[in-house]
Amino acid sequence: MTHDASLHSDERFARGIRHHEAGELAAAAALYAELLTQYPHEISLLQRNIDVLMQLGRNEAVIPSLERLLELQPANVEAHYLLGMALLNTGRQTAAEARMRRALEYNPDFFAAHAVLSHIALPGEHYYHVLDQAHELLRPATYVEIGVETGASMKLARPPTRCVGIDPEPRIQFQFNATVRIFAMTSDDFFATRDLRQELDGRPVDMAFIDGLHLFEAALRDFINIERHATGDTVVFMHDCVPLDRPTSSRQRQTTFWSGDTWKIIPCLKRYRPDLGILTLAAPPTGLAVVWGLDPGSTVLGDNMQAILEEFVPLDYGYLGDAKFEMLNVTFDPWPQVLASIRGGAARGGSAAPSGTS
Ligand SMILES: C[S@@+](CC[C@H](N)C(=O)[O-])C[C@H]1O[C@@H](n2cnc3c(N)ncnc32)[C@H](O)[C@@H]1O
Repeated sequence: MTHDASLHSDERFARGIRHHEAGELAAAAALYAELLTQYPHEISLLQRNIDVLMQLGRNEAVIPSLERLLELQPANVEAHYLLGMALLNTGRQTAAEARMRRALEYNPDFFAAHAVLSHIALPGEHYYHVLDQAHELLRPATYVEIGVETGASMKLARPPTRCVGIDPEPRIQFQFNATVRIFAMTSDDFFATRDLRQELDGRPVDMAFIDGLHLFEAALRDFINIERHATGDTVVFMHDCVPLDRPTSSRQRQTTFWSGDTWKIIPCLKRYRPDLGILTLAAPPTGLAVVWGLDPGSTVLGDNMQAILEEFVPLDYGYLGDAKFEMLNVTFDPWPQVLASIRGGAARGGSAAPSGTS
C-alpha cells in the first residue's frame, strides 16, 4: 500500500521539508504529525518524523513512528537501534536491551548496539575514569602498560611516574604527561629479551595495566611476568574481564566490539591463587579487574601452566551461566571505595566481597 503520489503532492509535506532542512525542527515536527494522521504508512514521512523528533530529544513521541516503521521494515537495523535508545531514554531498560538484541540479530557486528548493551550491563564509571583516579590516588613511582595502542590510557599517568609501555603495533596519538618508554614488541618478546626492573631504573612495578592480546593465556602470561617484578603493594588492573556475551568473547574475533576470553583469568586466579585479592569493577565497556596482594616469589601459576591451559582454554562463555557477576567478583562500588577495601584487606581469594559486590 502506498500513498506516495498524494503525500508528495501535498503542499504541507514540502513545507515540512523546508522547515526541517532549515533547522526549524518544531515547525517541521508539527507538520509531520499532522500529515501522519493522513498518511500513517508513508516510509519517507515516518523517517523524516523520526529524524526531527530524535533531534528534538522527544523520546516518548518518537516511539510510535519507530514502531510503525519497523512494522513496514522489520529488518531496519538502525530503526531497532533508535527505538532501543528511545526506550532507554524513557527508562524502559529491559525493552531497550531486547531491542538492541533484535538489531544484533540482523547485524551481529553492530558496534553501537554492543556499546549500549555493555553500558546497561556495567553501569559503573568508564575504565579510563577508573585508571585516571587510580593514578591520582596511588601515585605509583612506576607503571607498566601492556597494550598501549593510541596511548589513551597511558596518557593518564602523571609525573614523576616512570612508565613502560609494551605493544607490537603502537599507534600513539596522545601527548604523554609522565616519562614513558614504549617498546614496540609483543609482551612475550619483551619479557624474554628485556629486564623490566632495569627499564624501571631498578625499581619494582607499583601499578600495571594488562590490556594486550585478548586471549586468556596471553593475559595470564602477562600477569605472571608482571608479578615477578611486583611487591606486596603492587596493584594490577586487567581489562576485558566481564564478557558481554558469547560472540563478543570468542577466541577468534568475529565482532568489532571484542573482549576475547580474557575473563577466564578471574576464575583461574581464584582457583590457583586464593592468596590474591581480586575485584572486578563494573566499568564499561568490558569490566576492569583489580588484583592486589601479589607475591613475586610465587611459582604456582607457572608450575601449573599445563593443567591451567587444559582446564580454562576450552571453557565456553556458558560456563558463567547465571552467576557471571559472582564468578567474576564484580563490584558496583566506585574505585575509591574499592581502594579503601583493598587497604582494609578485603576480598582475599575473591571470597569476602565489599558492599555492592554482586
Ligand atoms: C585494546 S588495545 C589497548 C588499548 C589501550 N590500553 C587503551 O585503553 O586505550 C590492545 C592493544 O594490544 C596490543 N597487543 C596485541 N597483542 C599484543 C601482545 N602480544 N603484547 C602486547 N600488546 C599486544 C595491540 O597492538 C593493541 O594496540
